[in-house]
Amino acid sequence: MQHTGVSAADETRYDDAVVKLFTIATITWAVVGMLVGVWIALEIAWWPANLGLPWTTFGRLRPLHTNAVIFAFGGNICFAGIYYSMQRLLKTRMFHDTLSRLHFWGWQLIIVCAAITLPLGLTQSKEYAELIWPIDLLITVVWVIFAINFFGTIAIRKVQHLYVAIWFYMSFVITIAVLHIVNSLAVPASFTRSYPIYAGMTDALVQWWYGHNAVGFFLTTPFLGMMYYFLPRIAERPVYSYRLSIVHFWALVFLYIWAGPHHLLYSSLPEWAQTLGMVFSIVLIAPSWGGMLNGLLTLRGAWDRVRTDPILKFLVVAVSFYGMSTFEGPMMSIRAVNSLSHFTNWTIGHVHSGALGWNGMITFGILYWLVPKLWKRKELAHPGWATTHFWLATTGIVLYTVSMWAAGLTEGLEWRAYDDAGQLKYPNFVDIVHQLAPFYWLRLTGGLMYLTGVIMMAVNLTQTINGSAPARLPATLATTS
Ligand code: HEM
Ligand code: HEM
Repeated sequence: MQHTGVSAADETRYDDAVVKLFTIATITWAVVGMLVGVWIALEIAWWPANLGLPWTTFGRLRPLHTNAVIFAFGGNICFAGIYYSMQRLLKTRMFHDTLSRLHFWGWQLIIVCAAITLPLGLTQSKEYAELIWPIDLLITVVWVIFAINFFGTIAIRKVQHLYVAIWFYMSFVITIAVLHIVNSLAVPASFTRSYPIYAGMTDALVQWWYGHNAVGFFLTTPFLGMMYYFLPRIAERPVYSYRLSIVHFWALVFLYIWAGPHHLLYSSLPEWAQTLGMVFSIVLIAPSWGGMLNGLLTLRGAWDRVRTDPILKFLVVAVSFYGMSTFEGPMMSIRAVNSLSHFTNWTIGHVHSGALGWNGMITFGILYWLVPKLWKRKELAHPGWATTHFWLATTGIVLYTVSMWAAGLTEGLEWRAYDDAGQLKYPNFVDIVHQLAPFYWLRLTGGLMYLTGVIMMAVNLTQTINGSAPARLPATLATTS
């Protein structure tokens, strides 16, 4: 018999109401964060789009974009995925419903505070840690609430074994707490201003230890945990190698934490520390690709379904982009390569192949699977739209990343080009900027396609939630959970 996989017993046992809240928040912030992304992409291509207002200039909207996509869109899907999967993996309801609600509303309050303060120009000027000290304190409180709820749930679990996804989630909960607290230590000078307790190079090193591990433990480990839970469930195949997943976990968390100095190559950071960062980054290919292959090989026997099932398509492309960006990153951390790529749009291309390709695509796949299950709908309101979304997103990513790679190589090579007399071949910086204009328009086109897909998804999922589902059932929903 076909059903949506949520039994009445599940409903009373598990707190899915909080998963629903986080899911709705993910969809909402996806639209907002990427709309701002498209806006700043337009500002780079066509400056009048900054509207001549201080609040809408690039310098203020850019951190709004990064905070919205990483912490609002990315954060909410991680919490939705964790709350959904850990209850099922540990066969217990979350530790405390009130803590779950405080976590949800506290996190949304932080996002709203960010959305108000960043356009006002209130910032600590640390990338991905821009929020001012009172909001930092709020983040700490909310994170502690989440941690108590998370570890409390582990403590009351009904199964002994901790599946690998839970280990990945654990590294997220612990490491983000440590990173946030250490990097945000500051002496307040007023309600909106503060001085960091570190100075000079130490401040830079702490900041990039934080910045890099925000990528590692916010945009990577919780998403890998979700990959290890949702991919086998959706593909209805066991994980290819459980042993490999354990090696993947320990090797990844051990190596990631040392790689931050690759953001400070050719700086006044001692050379041995730069080399350490570079070496650990290169070795990081091994666990990353081990994880990617484990994900792709989990699909063995299900490849025929990838042709027809948009959800599996999203997951395959996500895992492939995880592999691509974790190959590119180690290459960029080699000093000679970084001397070309640093300060250029190549970095922006790398960021978005990870962000749009890995984080975005896996999130969309999970959302299309999760929403009908959570709201007990037989299928999506518009099953065909999911396939259109997939192609719009994939083409959009290709346009975004290829244009940024081309722009990055152009500027990187031209900055260092000399003529026969040993003079700079392009002495006017602005001439190079002008050459980049076509690439910026191309990136904007890619971004618009990606955003269009996200809006289609938001409409599709909203109508699915509202119950306007027609008759057919997509392959991944047609089976018992
Ligand atoms: C419609 C989709 C998106 C568009 C059009 C877009 C556009 C942009 C633009 C124009 C910038 C500034 C680049 C610069 O300073 O030269 C940027 C930066 C950034 N975006 Fe996006 N973005 C999108 C989605 C995302 C998503 C989903 C994520 C993460 C999950 C993300 C993460 C970032 C990060 C981390 C940066 C800062 C990069 C750096 O400092 O090197 N973006 N984005
Ligand atoms: C093995 C894995 C990876 C390594 C070794 C790595 C390495 C690097 C390197 C060398 C840079 C350029 C630093 C600079 O020149 O300033 C960079 C930038 C960046 N990478 Fe990666 N990367 C990896 C994976 C990823 C993934 C999967 C994502 C996203 C999901 C990502 C997001 C970013 C971001 C956001 C930046 C820009 C930071 C900034 O300057 O604001 N990286 N990465």
